[in-house]
Amino acid sequence: MRNLKLAGHVGFDTLPDQLVSKSVQCGFNFNILCVGETGLGKSTLMDSLFNTSFESNPSPHSLSGVKLKSHTYELQESNVKLKLTLVDTIGYGDQVNKEESFKPVVDYIDAQFEAYLQEELKIKRQLATFHDTRIHVCLYFICPTGHGLKSLDLVCMKKLDNKVNIIPVIAKADTISKPELMRFKTKIMSELAANGVQIYQFPVDDEAVAEMNLSMNAHFPFAVCGSTDFIRVGNKMVRARQYPWGTVQVENENHCDFVKLREMLIRTNMEDLRETTHIRHYEIYRRLRLEQMGFSDLDSDNKPQSFQQTYEHKRQLLRMELQQKEDEMRQQFVIRVKEKETELKEAEKELQSRFDRLKKEHAEEKRKLDEAKKRLEDNQNELVKRRQQLLTQSTGTLGHGTLTLGKNKKK
Ligand code: GTP
Ligand code: MG
Repeated sequence: MRNLKLAGHVGFDTLPDQLVSKSVQCGFNFNILCVGETGLGKSTLMDSLFNTSFESNPSPHSLSGVKLKSHTYELQESNVKLKLTLVDTIGYGDQVNKEESFKPVVDYIDAQFEAYLQEELKIKRQLATFHDTRIHVCLYFICPTGHGLKSLDLVCMKKLDNKVNIIPVIAKADTISKPELMRFKTKIMSELAANGVQIYQFPVDDEAVAEMNLSMNAHFPFAVCGSTDFIRVGNKMVRARQYPWGTVQVENENHCDFVKLREMLIRTNMEDLRETTHIRHYEIYRRLRLEQMGFSDLDSDNKPQSFQQTYEHKRQLLRMELQQKEDEMRQQFVIRVKEKETELKEAEKELQSRFDRLKKEHAEEKRKLDEAKKRLEDNQNELVKRRQQLLTQSTGTLGHGTLTLGKNKKK
């Protein structure tokens, strides 16, 4: 490539402005997932972060499993529109057996990736207007026990760390003393490292924010508190929690890390969270899903192959598979027909032998009947003959008979 110098103003230096204007017109979207045990202050923190009041109902502790609930809101600040989706866990950590608690969370994240992938794979895709619900950040609420992480936390974060940007936060941080909090933070970080859990790191490649992000990376996990109540401090109304011994101001950096979290999450790194979701987490999901579907950038000889080639190859394989199945079915059909033929032949043979036997029996019966008939006829003839003889005898002796009879009478 050659470097050329322009002789005057051309105007493509307005390209970044065009981009900004286009993006502002389209609006932005940001999706937050809050994972944490029931009543840890998830909804209160969201209200505090966006300085509004989102709809939320306290969850019961009696659910048999973990569920996820999402709400989408349209927010506007100056002329920038933000479509914000808040997803909350319901019943997290409430079951006796918590082994499967992470599963609904993982499934939810995957389902959002899948919906985006399906839109991307459509012939007529509408990604510009598609409501992208992929989770950009997961705020993981840690119980302020002061004793380190629960196994539920470690297992869940480990399952999520290659699917989403995890930012761990210590919930209700106003319930732990300052020295305890320092120890708690160190313990959590060493437990995460020992278990190989990768949490989100604020980017340090942009000079403008590198220094701040670097120092904020050292503040993990943020110890936050939230409130829906306001008190007057000076001439300002501020979010605060009031206790008999004093007041915790949510936005006071000496009281908690709420401001740091808001600064990092919303004001400095929102775009990086969106970008990391797309280019890292979604990319991993997409690659695995496409490989699962049988697509690959390399063929069996490790040579590059295009989508078209993979498709043709798969079609060829499918055709061969079908042909093989057809052949097998045909062979089976022939075998079955032959088997049926032999079965029929055997049945026919048996029928024939039964018929022969019956014929023989019939002939024997007939012969016996004929003999009996003949005997009967002979007997009949004999009888007729004897009758005639008797008749002739009786006519011959009729006169004598009278005599005989007379004689007999006399007698
Ligand atoms: P579910 O949605 O029911 O799981 O609860 P959640 O995690 O959304 O908690 P929610 O915000 O409803 O708060 C539960 C209770 O904790 C409420 O009484 C809040 O006032 C209180 N709470 C919220 N944030 C804090 C906090 O930072 N510190 C303290 N001490 N209490 C808090
Ligand atoms: Mg809630």
